[in-house]
Amino acid sequence: MSGCARLYQVLFALLSVLVGVTCFNLDIEKPSVYSGPEGSYFGYSVDFYRPNPDKNVMAVLIGAPKANTTQPGIVEGGAVYYCAWPANDTDSCRQIPFDRTNNRMVKTNGERQNLDFKSHQWFGATVRTHGGKVVACAPLYHWRTVRELGEMEPVGTCYVAIQNFSAFAEYSPCRNTNSDPEGQGFCQAGFSVDFTKDGALVLGGPGSFYWQGTEQHILNTHLSNQSAVS
Ligand SMILES: *[C@@H]1O[C@H](CO)[C@@H](O)[C@H](O)[C@H]1NC(C)=O
Ligand SMILES: *[C@@H]1O[C@H](CO)[C@@H](O)[C@H](O)[C@H]1NC(C)=O
Ligand SMILES: *[C@@H]1O[C@H](CO)[C@@H](O)[C@H](O)[C@H]1NC(C)=O
Ligand SMILES: *[C@@H]1O[C@H](CO)[C@@H](O)[C@H](O)[C@H]1NC(C)=O
Repeated sequence: MSGCARLYQVLFALLSVLVGVTCFNLDIEKPSVYSGPEGSYFGYSVDFYRPNPDKNVMAVLIGAPKANTTQPGIVEGGAVYYCAWPANDTDSCRQIPFDRTNNRMVKTNGERQNLDFKSHQWFGATVRTHGGKVVACAPLYHWRTVRELGEMEPVGTCYVAIQNFSAFAEYSPCRNTNSDPEGQGFCQAGFSVDFTKDGALVLGGPGSFYWQGTEQHILNTHLSNQSAVS
């Protein structure tokens, strides 16, 4: 199915046309067509989702990395939409609340400062499902480094949802003390993402150890290999 899913990504991103023509025996006279907010890059990522293997309910998850959300104080944080499949009417998609919160703040030298920066983080740039598990990432999520004079670094972050979006866990492996370009400060975790067959999460972090030049190519496929949720 992942071959199909990739084909769909192309179809959605470039053409926004028919769902299922190639991979499913679907009524081509009534294609499922989805649309999202203007300027939200709706369709940048897409995957099928089947919450319960015993039931024949199918949905399509569609990323819109520049969508506005209900998160207070966040501009264009990005979102993933849950869309009924086949599409039913013009309003078959709704935003999944992976994260409802504002930026976290920290008090440094008596001053309140951002610990993270969720505006323009491109959440929903990548989305993948594995049974009832869903991962979606914000590769341009920045956080404040742990030094006294904190800087913003694009470490990236991902959220995993289980049990049909009733529980969420954040997973941001590059948000550590190994900051700066020569560390994992520019990692952009979640730039690519997938699950292995047995459900382990695999994240691409192309920006890690940037200044090591030739190693960058190898590190483009630098994978972290941990289950986020057991
Ligand atoms: C998000 O909201 C901001 C501020 O309200 C607005 O300027 C921007 O156009 C909105 N973006 C999208 C994609 O709707
Ligand atoms: C469309 O949605 C309505 C209400 O949500 C539902 O009753 C109906 O069965 C759906 N139709 C199809 C073809 O799924
Ligand atoms: C799963 O979550 C979606 C999105 O919130 C919701 O529309 C759907 O009804 C849920 N399905 C079940 C079986 O709870
Ligand atoms: C990936 O995870 C598996 C199972 O936990 C482990 O055996 C393997 O050594 C890990 N590979 C890397 C590169 O970390």
